[in-house]
Amino acid sequence: MAESRGTFGSKLGVVLASAGSAVGLGNIWRFPTEVGNNGGAAFVLIYLVCVFIIGMPVMLSEFVIGRSTHANTATAYQKLAPGSWWRIQGGIGVFVAFIIMCYYVVVSGWTLYYCFESLKGSLQHTAEDPNYFSTVFDSFVADPYLPVVFAVLFMAMVHLIIVKGVQNGIERFSKLMMPMLLLIIGVLVVCAFSLPGTEEGLRYLLKPDFSKLTASAVLSAIGQSFFSLSIAMGCLCTYASYFRDDTNLVKTACSVCVIDTFVALLSGFIIFPAVFSVPGLEPGEGAGLVFKSLPYVFSQAFGGMPVMGYIFSLLFYMLLFLAALTSAISIHEPVTAYLHEVHDMSRRRAAVWVSVVCMVLGVICSLSFGVLSNVKLGSLGIFDCFDALPSLILMPLGGIIISLFTGWRMDRKLLNDQLTNNGHLKFRFLSTYVFLLKWVIPVAIGLVFINQFV
Ligand code: TRP
Repeated sequence: MAESRGTFGSKLGVVLASAGSAVGLGNIWRFPTEVGNNGGAAFVLIYLVCVFIIGMPVMLSEFVIGRSTHANTATAYQKLAPGSWWRIQGGIGVFVAFIIMCYYVVVSGWTLYYCFESLKGSLQHTAEDPNYFSTVFDSFVADPYLPVVFAVLFMAMVHLIIVKGVQNGIERFSKLMMPMLLLIIGVLVVCAFSLPGTEEGLRYLLKPDFSKLTASAVLSAIGQSFFSLSIAMGCLCTYASYFRDDTNLVKTACSVCVIDTFVALLSGFIIFPAVFSVPGLEPGEGAGLVFKSLPYVFSQAFGGMPVMGYIFSLLFYMLLFLAALTSAISIHEPVTAYLHEVHDMSRRRAAVWVSVVCMVLGVICSLSFGVLSNVKLGSLGIFDCFDALPSLILMPLGGIIISLFTGWRMDRKLLNDQLTNNGHLKFRFLSTYVFLLKWVIPVAIGLVFINQFV
């Protein structure tokens, strides 16, 4: 089996593919939404702490687990802890990736639709009413066909990349898309800084007001850091299983966290100046921020220069789409690799199964904004359930299990060998790292986790 597995070809490929997984809707759509919901700069600060104290060590653990076993997530835990209950984390990882995929394609489909709409110029509508685009969005997502068609289209693209394999599909594609994505984001920041709301937007993002900080904001910050870094659900563990033995895991984890955080902050630098440039818009608009408020900004903020608004909107939705695509392939991969390796299917067949089943569930998620909107579990609709189960329960739980597993159970020599590539590199923080994994991270996540239920 080991010979037939793919590997990443270059160091750059490794970093760009992992960063491609991390940088996604989480950075450009979810991060500004969370910042807006939780009161701005104070949340950003807590988020940064979460990324570097909790997220990065857990990411490193996933890299170690994946690279030391060169196996899909489920097999990886089985190899490292045969016969013990730690193995369940492997299964949880694959399951969470699967669940997330089902609703991720829906939102990704929206980004594709908005690319087309901005290309057509429909977002140039010069409506006086700030709610115009809100109505447009609500009726679009409630439509029984249109969002489904775009979700299917998006899934087909993901599928085509996945079946090409690790080096020719995932790596090649990430190397092409990630630089493009960074370029687009750079251009957009420059555009956004020419808007009248720049100062207020930057103040909102950078000047903390701790009186607005609540316990639930801390929970959201942990959840957001996990989501944004793609950790605790087997994605990075699976990618790491394709790393070569000379890949520097510590450096890779640092680079990915820095790139991911950088992109999240930059998208804040784009979105908040834009939102503050139009009177009547609020940063705490919620999930509709980039789909409802921004089109209005594009049509209004560039007053005399509609061309600028056109370019800005097209680039922005392309950015969102590309980011979603590189992340979606990383969510697809753990499930495909699992079926391929554990259930002995060909890679192509495994990919088809994953795509088709996710698509069916994705369609149901999508319909929950329209015809199925009455189907509810408690107060949550179907789409919300697919989001809440992983992000409120399975991901925090996964984070705890992964850090306890690496801290307490994993052979210390194996850990050290992985982090130093068998002594070829230096890693001076082993004891701090292990201390974080054994105590700090599980307790922090545990407290926050319990807090949400009381
Ligand atoms: N991190 C990606 C983002 O920011 C999303 C993502 C990729 C993800 N893989 C994941 C989220 C696995 C949860 C689980 O959009």
